[in-house]
Amino acid sequence: MELQKTNDSRARVGDRFKPFVSQHSIWQNPLLKACERNELTLADYGYVISQHFYYSRGFTRLIAALMVNCDDDKFRAELSHNLWEEAGEEDSEERHSNLLRKMLNNVFGISNPDETQFKDHTVNYFNECLQFLKHSNSITCAAFLGWGTEGVVADIYNYLFSGLTRLGVAEEELLYLSLHMECDDEHAEVIEDIALSQCGQNLDGHSQEIKAAIDMALTLRDKYFTALYQDLTSAKLNGLIGNITNKKTYRDADDIQSYASELKADDGAKLYSNVDAETGINFNVSRFNIGCEVMDPRLLEIPQGCRNERHKHAHESMFYILSGTGRVYQGEQSITVKAGDLVYVPRWIEHYSENTGEETLSVLAITDFGLTKNFPQNTDYSYRSKVTSIA
Ligand SMILES: [Fe+2]
Ligand SMILES: [Fe+2]
Repeated sequence: MELQKTNDSRARVGDRFKPFVSQHSIWQNPLLKACERNELTLADYGYVISQHFYYSRGFTRLIAALMVNCDDDKFRAELSHNLWEEAGEEDSEERHSNLLRKMLNNVFGISNPDETQFKDHTVNYFNECLQFLKHSNSITCAAFLGWGTEGVVADIYNYLFSGLTRLGVAEEELLYLSLHMECDDEHAEVIEDIALSQCGQNLDGHSQEIKAAIDMALTLRDKYFTALYQDLTSAKLNGLIGNITNKKTYRDADDIQSYASELKADDGAKLYSNVDAETGINFNVSRFNIGCEVMDPRLLEIPQGCRNERHKHAHESMFYILSGTGRVYQGEQSITVKAGDLVYVPRWIEHYSENTGEETLSVLAITDFGLTKNFPQNTDYSYRSKVTSIA
């Protein structure tokens, strides 16, 4: 049986809360921003989505909580239609939670997501949603689940879907996400209509109550996503912290050859370079892969008459001038340098170097990029213009 769909005038009434949703701070969430800036790895997405599985697995309980609070049999019928879709319709193996199990297995190799070590904030997020819905009246309950939850799924899943496809994951592997990007707006409207109908002719009188419920839903999710983002960052630091605190060297004595270099350009892996005849920018940066953990030594080479571009980054650097003469600019100041000089470049200061002599200016730049790279938004690429190659 085809249930009656939301009528258009109702949907437009519901739209009046959309600006409130779109202005919420959740859209500045660091996890979403990291997706947008392509800063997450496939493993990062695997972590985030395997934690989200806890919510997905329990989701029908949230609809059920709303059903309990809804005394209109027509709306309960429409909610049961949502539940029917969630349940995979005729085939319970195709229920949405199972689609996510398949996606976790196929994309991330997580074969048994039910055995994930769910974080406290993952469990708490779901429980706080469930508790709110169990103990609210039907207006706030529907506002929380309609505008505040189902209504934002398409946008939030789009961050994950776009990020994963940019990493090369095939769209057909992401059915769980694309399906919800298509169907959840309709689900949201059914739920929003419950709130609107309960308000009757007094929508203005209930407006603050509805906004408070929407804000609660979005704020809980915002906090949860921030906690997941912090997990990603701290997971990357845990190995480093362990190496520092366990008081044992991890170095293999046989590896000493690989920890040495003659400081020739060819010894370093190419990191980036840029040439722009108009501005005189011409430089090359190579990395010495000699096994440092936090220190990341690089060789900066600038030909005669050229400079590198003004830029800034999270890592601090110690410049040791190997050969040539030039000027190192930091902020509004600059100093002359020659072979044998040492210059410290603090984090985040805008700086560049210029070759003022007659031979190549060669600089050994010892940075702490091995530390700062663990904070993805702080990688230097975003603050460097016109980079022509990044290895
Ligand atoms: Fe679903
Ligand atoms: Fe720099």
